Amino acid sequence: MRTQVGIVGAGPAGLMLSHLLHLEGIASVVLESRSREEIESTIRAGVLEQGTVDLLERTGVGARMRREGAVHHGIKLRFGGRTHRIDLRALTGGKSIMLYAQHEVIKDLVQARLQAGGELRFEAEAIAVDGISGQSPRIRFREDGRAQELACDFVAGCDGFHGVSRAPFGWFGFLTRAPSSSDELIYARHERGFALVSTRSPQIQRLYFQCDPRDDEESWSDARIWEEMHARLENVEGWKLTEGPILQKGIVALRSFMVEPMQHGRLFLAGDAAHIVPATGAKGLNLAVADVLVLSRALAAFFRSGNGALLDRYSATCLRRAWLVQRFSRWMTALTHRDDGDDAFTGQLQLAELEYLTGSRAAQAALAENYVGLAME
Ligand code: DHB
Repeated sequence: MRTQVGIVGAGPAGLMLSHLLHLEGIASVVLESRSREEIESTIRAGVLEQGTVDLLERTGVGARMRREGAVHHGIKLRFGGRTHRIDLRALTGGKSIMLYAQHEVIKDLVQARLQAGGELRFEAEAIAVDGISGQSPRIRFREDGRAQELACDFVAGCDGFHGVSRAPFGWFGFLTRAPSSSDELIYARHERGFALVSTRSPQIQRLYFQCDPRDDEESWSDARIWEEMHARLENVEGWKLTEGPILQKGIVALRSFMVEPMQHGRLFLAGDAAHIVPATGAKGLNLAVADVLVLSRALAAFFRSGNGALLDRYSATCLRRAWLVQRFSRWMTALTHRDDGDDAFTGQLQLAELEYLTGSRAAQAALAENYVGLAME
């Protein structure tokens, strides 16, 4: 078995890379340990940056997103009993975000690859990557209980985060069947901890609240979940959170992690395999897309002319943007989360930061510029 680029992992990074390479006339094989059903139903974030939206549309995989996704032109910050709108569009010269769930992007990419005759091997678990310091690396993997080998020119590691790192914060996330309570996302800072109101459709809402990352999901009954959400969000006159049946729930850990460099010989890491940013701001998928755009262009240049200059710069190019996104995600987390160890001084400083932000167009422009997404490439 042989291909030009062997891709480990069928998440946003691996699938988008395979799609972009196909458009450049480069063959790839994607190996994914999980089943197609599993990757197409795993609930993750749902905010696409302007650059991600543009890229999906430009490369022919944006039609359903355009029909079913929702464009948002602003977000709301809630703290100290008031709500302040950040006008993303006005502050960025016309840019916005798209609410469209990650697993919907996955479905669209899987369908596009299969329709174009792409090779996606599900329930194929990569065991080892050999020969990355030479010209012909190989991925050993197991499929249907049999050991197999994929020979390739390059390997892309797009199989997510495997490291260990302390998680200072957790989010309890859940889906509810209820009409939306807000026309835009609400990021709320509260003494009891952070809360976030997001959406999936006019009928399905996505809600989060900060919890202990070591919490057990089962210790949160539906009644206790709603009580916490009401307490953190309803300190604003005349606003009410609409309840509905809870359809799905889970705890995510907020972590930060960077792998440097993102290249080891002929192995290139992309997406979560290279960097984890805390969830606040929903940057994970967008960062993965930015990585593979750089990688696809560098591989295209190499296969076209044998010139490896862009490949040599891959790690530095991606890390520059990844560090900026890490900075923003951590800043937005610190702005809105409550740490058990926080004293009154820290709490007042956090409020002062929010106060400054809501009073300064320059500070809001900085938030908006990062939120809609920094330039890709
Ligand atoms: C969502 C997730 C986020 O991390 C975020 O900052 C905003 C929205 C979401 O799942 O909709």
